[in-house]
Amino acid sequence: MKTIFSGIQPSGTPTIGNYIGAMKQFISLQESYTSYFCIVDEHAITVQQEPLKLRQQTKSLAALYLAIGLDPAKAIIFIQSEVSAHAEAAWIVQCNTNIGELERMTQFKDKSAKNSRSGVSVGLLTYPPLMVADIILYQSNLVPVGDDQKQHLELTRDFVTRFNNKYSNGNHLLTVPEVKIPKSGGRIMSLQDPLKKMSKSDDNKKSFISMLDAPAIIRKKIKSAVTDSSGVIEYDSENKPGISNLLTIYASFTDFSIAELVDRYQNSGYGQFKEDLGEAIVAVLEPIQIRHNELIDSDELDLILDEGAIKARSVANKTLIKMKNAIGLGRKNR
Ligand code: TYM
Repeated sequence: MKTIFSGIQPSGTPTIGNYIGAMKQFISLQESYTSYFCIVDEHAITVQQEPLKLRQQTKSLAALYLAIGLDPAKAIIFIQSEVSAHAEAAWIVQCNTNIGELERMTQFKDKSAKNSRSGVSVGLLTYPPLMVADIILYQSNLVPVGDDQKQHLELTRDFVTRFNNKYSNGNHLLTVPEVKIPKSGGRIMSLQDPLKKMSKSDDNKKSFISMLDAPAIIRKKIKSAVTDSSGVIEYDSENKPGISNLLTIYASFTDFSIAELVDRYQNSGYGQFKEDLGEAIVAVLEPIQIRHNELIDSDELDLILDEGAIKARSVANKTLIKMKNAIGLGRKNR
């Protein structure tokens, strides 16, 4: 069976962008892959986090993984910092990656542009090597992510090819992963500025719907989503990015295709469309929220995460030893 790996940062509550771009893919993929779903808390600390809040968000994200339908009997669910091989492998990756490659990463450029360079942590620059480490430790064949992670996957593929050539004569010491981005919904846009990506760290809370927003808030945020003045419901991401984004979200939360939705709402205005969209999102998120709340402080959750960490450690350590042996770390091969 082939392997998938993916992770989400507990840097806030996931948005419907995270759900559509990444989490929804996880649910179906766990059926046919050996699956690793990680809560990447070490990635979250590349920007300042409040310790108690970070812990809470980490547990909450784990509870959400289960609440959306990830099944611990099929998938290994674990917390990154509980498997120390990630940080160790990341060091090896860093030492085999050029600064230039990292300075070119769009996410680094965006995030560091917000702050003066001296106020940016080194971790923000060396974050992609940690992501490379996450992926290679499980010899992952496929990585389901949203569109914004594409560049990090290219970096991973380049690293693996280089590492295999340098340290194992081109043999497959490490697996070259493929990226998997959903055909529609790989980049959900902000509800307030449809030219900007929806992000859980946006200062404007109206710009995103969090997976734990109360139903009344969800309805309100959809109602106030920016559209245009034409009042015509059609998909045209260039000229009508607001309504096109809402159509993508609607299709992702229901069984309707975008074409079916356009057809269904051809004689309606934005008001009716938004009201129905709000209900469609609530219908999916409300049961997830109820399950999340049952799990968040449960022993069941702790047990699943303990078991996940044990299983992940065993696989990750094997790859780490292979890497150390290949590059000559330590006194002898282990
Ligand atoms: P993060 O936490 O920013 O986002 C988690 C996942 O959600 C996707 N995503 C989106 N998809 C569609 N529309 C959006 N507006 C949107 N915003 C976010 C992201 O593409 C991602 O798939 N570096 C990663 C976490 C990570 C990881 C990994 C992923 C660490 N190690 C290894 C895969 C494999 C990140 O910051 O994701």
